[in-house]
Amino acid sequence: MIGIFDRLARPLLRALDPEDAHRLAIKALRLAPRRRPPADDVRLAVRAFGLNLPNPVGIAPGFDKHAEAPDALLGLGFGFVEIGTVTPRPQAGNPRPRLFRLDVDQAVINRLGFNSEGEAAVLKRMAARAAAGGIVGVNVGANRDSGDRAADYVRMIEHVAPVASYVTVNISSPNTPGLRDLQRASALDDLLARIVAARDRAALRAGPTPVLLKIAPDVSLTELDDMVGIARGRGIDGMIVGNTTVLRPPTLRDRAAVETGGLSGAPLYPLATRMLAETYVRVEGAFPLIGVGGIDSGAAALGKIRAGADLIQLYSALVFRGLGLVAEIKAAMLAALDRGEAGKLSDLVGIDAAALTAESWPV
Ligand SMILES: Cc1cc2nc3c(=O)[nH]c(=O)nc-3n(C[C@H](O)[C@H](O)[C@H](O)COP(=O)(O)O)c2cc1C
Repeated sequence: MIGIFDRLARPLLRALDPEDAHRLAIKALRLAPRRRPPADDVRLAVRAFGLNLPNPVGIAPGFDKHAEAPDALLGLGFGFVEIGTVTPRPQAGNPRPRLFRLDVDQAVINRLGFNSEGEAAVLKRMAARAAAGGIVGVNVGANRDSGDRAADYVRMIEHVAPVASYVTVNISSPNTPGLRDLQRASALDDLLARIVAARDRAALRAGPTPVLLKIAPDVSLTELDDMVGIARGRGIDGMIVGNTTVLRPPTLRDRAAVETGGLSGAPLYPLATRMLAETYVRVEGAFPLIGVGGIDSGAAALGKIRAGADLIQLYSALVFRGLGLVAEIKAAMLAALDRGEAGKLSDLVGIDAAALTAESWPV
């Protein structure tokens, strides 16, 4: 089915406006007959954040923002699905057009601005699928017009934790004005103290749910020092590195590169992977990391693991490479083990991190 979809449907979808194509893809997934996830080779299994995952390849948030198709996505072979970003109240996001495909650069720019059906709609869908199993995390954000953004995160964690495998605190979207200011040390320390307290309150009612922090790849290394120090000090369960970038690498050639918003896809890989390695050397094994940004091949996925990722996520490359990429990445991981590069995938985590941090800064 994946092969047929990649050969027939993708050329059609790519002829459409990117947001219309995305809506159609979600609709097709919702309507597709339910499939059990393919059984993965046991050597791909990973334990992270107290969760057991069949493989380390996840779909990044932004693809299924409203939890419309998590089980269909698990059925495609992803080891985990992160839905969201979900905001407490429904909001429309920015005016269209707000999603741009940079075909020449194999990249995407989005300025969606947290279009969300809101927590109530998503909670209902998550509760309805709770018995289905599989790892489904929920990425949470604040409403654009919120008077107290930290309170939005606290409320979301308390409400979402009982139906989520994990919760991601997204303070790194470039498309909600001022949101990334929460990454600054004084705001972050206060936010994470309240978030960890909310996580621990929810655990008393519903059992433990890990809470992860997703950061931007655009922070300075001094800011990263603070962020990792605070995350470790407050006892956060893991970090995701990272979100889209507001930078525009000079290599971009597509005429849509002038659009405002967050850039993702192949041109993000060098920066996101460097920031992952920089995070890994600062975390010193205190918690696991998810590496995301520009993964478009098995080699790129292995590169993220070697830079410090226990788990990986991808989104943009699915637009250009199709759903077959998931199986390709898993095959490349098994091939690396067959070649004897390591006994198990976890042996590869971070082995290139120190060397990467010594290289010149990627542009
Ligand atoms: C259209 C689009 C929407 C996105 N929406 C979200 C979002 O709601 N929340 C979030 O944390 N990240 C969001 N992201 C960022 C992705 O989760 C990911 O961090 C980023 O795209 C880098 O990965 P990639 O290069 O594999 O796409 C979005 C990305 C794209 C392309």
